[in-house]
Amino acid sequence: MKLPTDSAITIDVPLIREDPTLVNTQITRGLQGHPKTLPSKLFYDERGSTLFEQICELPEYYQTRTEHQLLTQWADEIVTMSGAEELVELGSGAATKTRVLLTAMANANQLRHYVPFDVDESIVRRVSEELVQEYPGLQVHGVVGDFLFHLEHIPEGGKRLVVILGGTIGNLLSHAAKDFLTAVNAEMSSGDYFLLGVQLITDRSRLEAAYNDRQGITAKFNKNIIRVLHNNFGADSHPDLFDHVARYNEDAHRIEMWLRSRQDQTLNIADLNFSVPLAHGEEIRTEISTKYDQPLAQELLASSGFEMVKWYTDPESLIGLALTQKP
Ligand code: SAH
Ligand code: TRP
Repeated sequence: MKLPTDSAITIDVPLIREDPTLVNTQITRGLQGHPKTLPSKLFYDERGSTLFEQICELPEYYQTRTEHQLLTQWADEIVTMSGAEELVELGSGAATKTRVLLTAMANANQLRHYVPFDVDESIVRRVSEELVQEYPGLQVHGVVGDFLFHLEHIPEGGKRLVVILGGTIGNLLSHAAKDFLTAVNAEMSSGDYFLLGVQLITDRSRLEAAYNDRQGITAKFNKNIIRVLHNNFGADSHPDLFDHVARYNEDAHRIEMWLRSRQDQTLNIADLNFSVPLAHGEEIRTEISTKYDQPLAQELLASSGFEMVKWYTDPESLIGLALTQKP
């Protein structure tokens, strides 16, 4: 057996180095807005990433299972069509579903490089170690960064398949999603493939249940943002001073996640020299999760410079996988 060597893993960390004040500005700007918002990447420290892995296994959270099944069904075709020898994944997280694609690439003798790109350093390191063990000969080049700002750190590669899964694209407002995908397109070479997973519009009760699970894991995950503000930015508030709220906004076809203050309080963030008053019942928006239909997804992809190759969906039309190509 070929043993992985240290040289099988490279990790680049532009996150802090590039602009140490970026996230500070994002936090203070968001809390001065109407409505007040927080940048959702703050969910994902080591604890947050672990909570998200638990969300993916919840009975109510149908998204991960459905996307996993779709990938299992179509991975061989996607991999063969793309001809890719390098997989680049933005918002890679625990890379559980990714293994379906990596295995299909290995079986087709196409697997050379994997580039996990995520804002949480701990999960990029963990996944890199796991994957070089699981796929002998694989070279992993991880990037710890904000994919809205650090895309140029994706290493040059051979023929690439870029993927975004897990409904992550839905976590951006539609104009930001278009700008982001346009920037992703600009990093790709002509002929490279791009696979986008989108969560599809379905009935309100099913959507709201997926973000209000009975075990309260989603509530813990949502409140983790307050913990991160405390641990990493010296904020004085406490997760227990907020209630988790998730509701479907039908006009904007998106789930919105809010933290509702349980009392009048002032949120002091010592490291940022910043305070903001919160009234009893006042809400901070921490996340949106936009749901698409096929035409909306196609329009987004076309306006970002991608050509549709094939659309995959499950029998209930809960998840769409759009396989596209940069012309
Ligand atoms: N792809 C995985 C995880 C999806 S959750 C899945 O399908 O299950 C979203 C992932 O994107 C998390 O791992 C989170 O850390 C990462 N993420 C969120 N915002 C980010 C940003 N601005 N830049 C880079 N990664 C980000
Ligand atoms: N990308 C995931 C989604 O939109 C993120 C997510 C799932 C999430 N559950 C959450 C974000 C709860 C905040 C709170 O489905």
